[in-house]
Amino acid sequence: MSSFPVTRLRRFRRTPSLRALVRETRLQLDELVLPLFVAPEPLPNEALPALQRFDLDGLLREVEAVGSAGVRAVLLFGVPPEKDEQASGAWAEEGIVQQALRALRPRFPELVLVTDVCLCEYTSHGHCGVVVDGEVDNDRSLELLARTAVSHAEAGADVVAPSDMMDGRVGAIRDALDEHGFESTPILAYSAKYASAFYGPFREAAGSAPAFGDRRSYQLDPANLREALRECELDLEEGADAIMVKPALSYLDVIRAVREAFDAPLAAYNVSGEYALVKAAARAGWIDERAAALESLTAIKRAGADLIISYWTKDLAGWL
Ligand code: PBG
Repeated sequence: MSSFPVTRLRRFRRTPSLRALVRETRLQLDELVLPLFVAPEPLPNEALPALQRFDLDGLLREVEAVGSAGVRAVLLFGVPPEKDEQASGAWAEEGIVQQALRALRPRFPELVLVTDVCLCEYTSHGHCGVVVDGEVDNDRSLELLARTAVSHAEAGADVVAPSDMMDGRVGAIRDALDEHGFESTPILAYSAKYASAFYGPFREAAGSAPAFGDRRSYQLDPANLREALRECELDLEEGADAIMVKPALSYLDVIRAVREAFDAPLAAYNVSGEYALVKAAARAGWIDERAAALESLTAIKRAGADLIISYWTKDLAGWL
């Protein structure tokens, strides 16, 4: 390669059209997934609008609006009227997510309905599994997670996304789905989900903060990369159709490493705390929200994500 003055990399940066010709990474709305929270009562959130809760009617209106704006996929989270030790609201036939799915499915046949499969919003203690003697019991949680996934598929989910981080859950869910005739329902596994401080605003929206302790006995240690690759490998062996890295922005190296190690579709979750940081700085007048969001999402794609779960998905429908 020749160097300056023959080579001048600024030549292709001169105008927007020249830059567009050589752009390596592009964002498209059909790779984005919008998280939505459904609850018995709405709960507005002025500072973080994408983290508001909708009741069933509100959810239908919101999905109508975002669907006509071009959003192709949503990820549903439920906040149940009551919580208990067995997380019965997670797998109940009349659970809040099951009701939402039954309402959405016939009205929006083209929309991809992804569901978060986890127990933390539904357990009285807020952990992602069944608690026995003060510890989250892995194997006893599997049956409830599998039951939850099957009930979502029965109610109309297109994709189930387990986020609990129990060992063996992908296999347990795959078996249960197949047994119930849902062999065509894909599993998007939250494979490399870290024990992160960036989930704070989500836990408020979903009412899922653990009542004691933290999630470090099941979510990944933020210091570990090789372990993330092992998680992805195991999930794929157990039958995951797509894998995920979460959060995204502090874990771009993990996204890149997973991309290079596996050929499965890779999702990245641009989590609530990452959204909140930009929102707060924008509100203070320190940062341009749209530019910062587009830059962050572009970075996540550049790192290697195929699809992105983002609270900016609705805004993006207008920005792109
Ligand atoms: C639940 C779950 C969490 C998120 C997605 N699914 C929270 C947690 O593990 O505590 C976080 C999403 C976000 O912060 O946007 N298991």
